[in-house]
Amino acid sequence: MSDTFPECEPIRGFASDNNASVHPDIMAALAAANDGHQPAYGADVHTVRLRELIKGHFGERADVYPVFNGSGANVVGLQAMCERWSAVICPESAHINLDECGAPEKVAGLKLIPVPTPDGKLTPKLLDQYAWGFGEEHHAQPKVVSITQSTELGTLYTPGEIAAIGALARERGMLLHVDGARLANAAAALDVPLRALTSEVGVDVLSFGGTKNGSLLGEAIVVLNPDAVRGVTYLRKAAMQLASKMRYVSAQLIALLEGDLWLRNARHANAMAARLAAAVARVPGVEIVRPVQANAVFAIIPREVTERLQKRFRFHTWDERTGEVRWMCSFDTTEADVDAFAEAIAQEMAA
Ligand SMILES: Cc1ncc(COP(=O)(O)O)c(C=O)c1O
Repeated sequence: MSDTFPECEPIRGFASDNNASVHPDIMAALAAANDGHQPAYGADVHTVRLRELIKGHFGERADVYPVFNGSGANVVGLQAMCERWSAVICPESAHINLDECGAPEKVAGLKLIPVPTPDGKLTPKLLDQYAWGFGEEHHAQPKVVSITQSTELGTLYTPGEIAAIGALARERGMLLHVDGARLANAAAALDVPLRALTSEVGVDVLSFGGTKNGSLLGEAIVVLNPDAVRGVTYLRKAAMQLASKMRYVSAQLIALLEGDLWLRNARHANAMAARLAAAVARVPGVEIVRPVQANAVFAIIPREVTERLQKRFRFHTWDERTGEVRWMCSFDTTEADVDAFAEAIAQEMAA
């Protein structure tokens, strides 16, 4: 995804939910937290409150470790679950495999075992094929299964699908990690609470995302099973993910999780993706190539149409080989944005 968009106006585009603004309630929460002194490194009142809220959402055993970004949450969370000789099984399309510049390998010293999938989802059958070599000294020992919810390809795991992966992982002595950069979008789409996709279905450690759902920055490692990790605090610091002024990360997550902002933002982003998919499905020649289940639409359109459209709207080419593009919706995408973009697609396809 190396496209740049020099000719685009700074309008809301469809490149990434990371391109979105900060939700005003989160800005207000930051301003409210910006009052006087607070103890550093997580001993502040906001982080204490966040810990309570996390228990409310995920259960009494859950604990939270705010970090600066999603890659940091993944790398530190996985490292805390693993030994020096461990391997992590994940879909080939996983962010940890493709988009973290090798940090799980370099920073955490882990071996990733990437599994090709048609839709970004692991299944018990696939896991069974790749979880082998236990007890063999020549083989990195499979220790963690990592899945992404919603996936990098815009698809979802149902609670039952996660439970089945977790059950097989446990049967083989492995643990289950979820990259939940877009967990809110998944819960909103499936109309279930966050715990129905995590603590209730055997997830041990979660990377919980806020940035794609209206935060300014900051994500969290949520440990759901304390027996699954060691040394999270030390590893977070050693990975340079310990924020001294942690209150500002925690205040954002509180703003999302205290009421239903997390849900409203995610529902809206999902609804905009559904609207876009419905509109472009009517345009001759546009092929929607993946199920639209959360806030992403993947389509194949002719390359020359992509080139012309990218002069007007920001979005990424997902796969250079096939010409597949990704259109991402955010909490701040409007119906008018979607309609204008769909209209532009129809115009450029007809040109
Ligand atoms: C699936 C997934 N996980 C994690 C991340 C977090 O990335 P970052 O380190 O940029 O916050 C992203 C961001 O694009 C993502 O799409």
